[in-house]
Amino acid sequence: LIHSISASELEILPCALLAVDSKGSIGALLKMEDASPQQVRDMLTTLNFPPDLVTIHWLAPGQFLIPGFVDTHNHAPQWAQRGLGQGMHILDWLDAITFPNEARFRDAGYARRVYASCVDGFLRQGITTASYYGSLHGEATKILAEICLEKGQRALVGKCNMTRNAPEYYRDASVEESLRVTEECIAHIRSLDPAGRLVKHVLTPRFAISCDPEVLEGLGEIARRNADLPIQTHFNEAEQEMAATRALFPQFASEADLYEHYGLLGERSILAHCCHMTEYEFERLKTLECGVAHCPIANMTVGGGFMAAPVREFLRRGFKVGLGTDSGGGFSSSILDAMRQAMIASHAREVMSEGRDKGLTIDEVFYLATAGGAQVCGLADKIGKFEVGKEFDALVIGTQGSDQGIMTMVEEGDSLRTVFEKFVMTGDDRNIVKVYVQGRLVRDLAAGA
Ligand code: GUN
Ligand code: FE
Repeated sequence: LIHSISASELEILPCALLAVDSKGSIGALLKMEDASPQQVRDMLTTLNFPPDLVTIHWLAPGQFLIPGFVDTHNHAPQWAQRGLGQGMHILDWLDAITFPNEARFRDAGYARRVYASCVDGFLRQGITTASYYGSLHGEATKILAEICLEKGQRALVGKCNMTRNAPEYYRDASVEESLRVTEECIAHIRSLDPAGRLVKHVLTPRFAISCDPEVLEGLGEIARRNADLPIQTHFNEAEQEMAATRALFPQFASEADLYEHYGLLGERSILAHCCHMTEYEFERLKTLECGVAHCPIANMTVGGGFMAAPVREFLRRGFKVGLGTDSGGGFSSSILDAMRQAMIASHAREVMSEGRDKGLTIDEVFYLATAGGAQVCGLADKIGKFEVGKEFDALVIGTQGSDQGIMTMVEEGDSLRTVFEKFVMTGDDRNIVKVYVQGRLVRDLAAGA
């Protein structure tokens, strides 16, 4: 069993017993010396888990358990356009590739088909929690939330607000309509999951460029009335985007001032990209306790101004930081790919900063993909690591066995640590054997589901 205790501390337990109760929470976690069937039964008895009512799962050789991955920034309607338009600047890419594609989600049948495939695809990648931008359509956004619930993925789901600087065929009809549909989505998603056990609405102004000031104001007001709802937007992503934002909102000296003015910055905020940061903005976002969704793939391939974001600096300053696939601007739907690209980008940053911003380690990128992401999504009390009382969102990782169609990662004498590193650097969805969310098996590689 492997999980992050903190950004710099990985815990590796070669032999452990983890008990999950009927509600999907972790009831016990014990480090063991040995694990014969008799010892496990004895242990369960002392824990008051009646062994005859318990199902015991043994991990096969080469398998280990990790927390589910958290994707802090993901565009569900871009599932159908993954990887298209690489190398384009953000506003050009939105116009040429993204808006025509997202507009198709006005068709509820299309939305249902693509979103079913999208959620299956991300579960297959071990993404047990995703923070999704939907399209601007209310009906499609409700469908996305329903599909997450049906398939058992933990998710934040947001109706995307965009009233301007988008083609007429793909923008909210008016400020009032944009806010009304948002309220409708909030109410619908609450009715599906009243306690927010698995799915919640997330307020989603696409970015300032696509929002009239009255929309930002209205969303700020909704945020004040709904203190449980997270908020997400794109922040300081690229030069092209920042220049356009300044031209539209000359009264604000920075995006931090802009979004703060409208009541959209705080501990509930998930800010994607954050590539270009001034000292003032670092301080402001830290004071306001905003979370950062680092999207290292998109940052360097589409839209992001081809920039290695200052992740080391965010960590040094104690920010909440997680990883985002930013699929489909990010060409990969795999968090493992995002972890690797985060390392690569951080090494570029180390060179750019003349050694000041040290590259990220394997342990750190794993933390960002799990416990760090949980913090950013406001879910640190529920998920991110294995602890009694937390919910069981977990992946069984397999590293040997030709039945999975993989080359074995386990060579003679390898420690669990060694195998873990090989998985992080060379693994893919064929290594993700089982996916659990809240104790429910939501994907089983062997069943092909
Ligand atoms: N800024 C506004 N919309 C988008 C989007 O869909 N992707 C990215 N990467 N940036 C954006
Ligand atoms: Fe994005």
